[in-house]
Amino acid sequence: MTTTTDHPAFHIEGLRVTFEAQGRQITPLDGLDLDVPRGQFLCILGPSGQGKSTLLRTMAGLQEASAGTVLASGRPVTGPDANLGMVFQQDAIPMWLRVRDNIAFGPRMRKVPKAVYGPRVDHYLTEVGLGGRERAWPKELSGGMRKRVAIAAVFANDPDVLLMDEPFGSLDYFTRASLHASLLELWQETGKTIVFVTHDVDEAIKLADRVVVVTEGTVGLDVTVDFPRPRGDELRMNPEADSLRTTLLRVLESRAGGEQ
Ligand SMILES: Nc1ncnc2c1ncn2[C@@H]1O[C@H](COP(=O)(O)OP(=O)(O)OP(=O)(O)O)[C@@H](O)[C@H]1O
Ligand SMILES: [Mg+2]
Repeated sequence: MTTTTDHPAFHIEGLRVTFEAQGRQITPLDGLDLDVPRGQFLCILGPSGQGKSTLLRTMAGLQEASAGTVLASGRPVTGPDANLGMVFQQDAIPMWLRVRDNIAFGPRMRKVPKAVYGPRVDHYLTEVGLGGRERAWPKELSGGMRKRVAIAAVFANDPDVLLMDEPFGSLDYFTRASLHASLLELWQETGKTIVFVTHDVDEAIKLADRVVVVTEGTVGLDVTVDFPRPRGDELRMNPEADSLRTTLLRVLESRAGGEQ
């Protein structure tokens, strides 16, 4: 019998996405192929306007493909699915729910029994460092802490994969570093597949098992990142990391300003 674990987290082949806007056609993705193995931490890099968000939204079932195949765990993606957890840059967490209710929102909506989701919610709440703030309102939290709520909430939903679109883009360096550490810990604990869009080369090198650069509608560069973990500031002194940084920056630079 075939189980979902026999399939890669994603199999994407010949993906095309075309938009019709103000009488003209834009095709940010055209003939894109990508396989994402289960459990991988994949970072998607690319210049602005080259289709990173479009790709992620298509993987999440929020954007229809104009052509090609998008399979998640071997099944066609036809719409949003609880197995495809999404975290956006502007995280509009429900402001009318206290922290714990926010984290419990997904499983409660899906009518998961309380006995199942309750311990999970408490676990992730503590893991992201929100212990003691269960009853706080989102408006009482900093941006970084609200992001922690969003991350705990997506893990509490227990999806197969996490799709994250520049989730830490608006945060300062130290807050980001601390969220990176929390996210990596959760990733290592759960073994979930993470697809993480960023335009920050250093963030990609720090987080990823693999970096894919989306340019001209397809995968322009696909590199394995195998520096030992945990990866701290010493990565800045590592000549191999430096050379990878230069390669990635060159690809980004050569395509920058290509917004359609
Ligand atoms: N719903 C839409 N309707 C029309 N055009 C769209 C739509 N969504 C995206 N586009 C266009 O598709 C192209 C790719 O956009 P996308 O948001 O995927 O880029 P991106 O790589 O995520 O950019 P950024 O780094 O700025 O977030 C852009 O030209 C954008 O204007
Ligand atoms: Mg984007």
